[in-house]
Amino acid sequence: MQENLLMYISIFEQNIPNMSHNLLKGKKGIIFGALNDMSIAWKVAERAHEEGATFTLTNAPIAMRMGAINDLAKKTNSKVIPADATSVEDLKNLFNESQEILGGKIDFVLHSIGMSPNVRKKKKYSNLNYEWYKKTLDVSAMSLHKVLQVSSDLDAMNEWGSVVALSYIAAQRIFPDYNDMADAKSLLESITRSFGYHYGTSRKVRINTISQSPTVTTAGSGVTGFDKFIDFSEKMSPLGNAGSLDCANYCISMFSDLTKYVTMQNLFHDGGFSSTGVTEAVMDRFGE
Ligand code: NAI
Repeated sequence: MQENLLMYISIFEQNIPNMSHNLLKGKKGIIFGALNDMSIAWKVAERAHEEGATFTLTNAPIAMRMGAINDLAKKTNSKVIPADATSVEDLKNLFNESQEILGGKIDFVLHSIGMSPNVRKKKKYSNLNYEWYKKTLDVSAMSLHKVLQVSSDLDAMNEWGSVVALSYIAAQRIFPDYNDMADAKSLLESITRSFGYHYGTSRKVRINTISQSPTVTTAGSGVTGFDKFIDFSEKMSPLGNAGSLDCANYCISMFSDLTKYVTMQNLFHDGGFSSTGVTEAVMDRFGE
């Protein structure tokens, strides 16, 4: 009986495709933003673990209360360090502790953070609450500058290290319900270029944004009319919307040494949406 079970398990295992290519073997990282198993950061953590990386997980102290991040930590054999990404003190502690736990400097950072009180409270873009607007920009964009400035001041990143932040095409074009998050994403992409210059010249650290298709997650679903919009985007993308696992795979490639000379870029991961004027699938819905 025992023998049969073992045989069954070994046959079963052989049928599981091995996704790992050891692309991040020996690399050390910090992953921001895994809230639950729908989060893009969650998928990145799972994939980074499969690719041989070690890393710490971090999120805002308030997000810890949900507890799901501890399941991810167990699964990926990593430690959780709470940090509000708008607090320079928290970020200093995060980089110091991460280097202690991981035993050296950091090779990759994922910034997967977004939050707008105006979106949450359904304020229109032409009637914003300015205190909330500041909060949107601080949490969703300036936090990237703080992460980079803290890590650069502490000299916490290895040469050829790679930082990826997640963005959205509303940084370039108007999507009315994306509201003040559009301004935050424009700033995020600008910080990526500006700090990419400074960190590149001083320490050969590279910084890029990945501009992702709309994806069903806690942050994504907060945008008004998200379900209809995701359907529109699907029909406007020659390849369809890119999912979160594929986004994670793109992040892994950006952390790997296969993309060493890519920096200061906004990289669209959107099934072709950003280059498409119109599709037959969308046109078919008009002129009836
Ligand atoms: P999510 O809700 O799972 O992740 C957002 C994360 O930001 C959460 O883990 C949240 O706790 C964290 N966060 C909020 N305030 C924070 C603070 N002060 N300090 C530290 N962390 C804080 O949603 P998702 O979709 O995985 O979002 C990740 C990133 O991807 C965001 O930048 C989002 O704008 C971006 N993105 C998402 C798209 C979507 O349709 N879901 C499309 C394109 C980009």
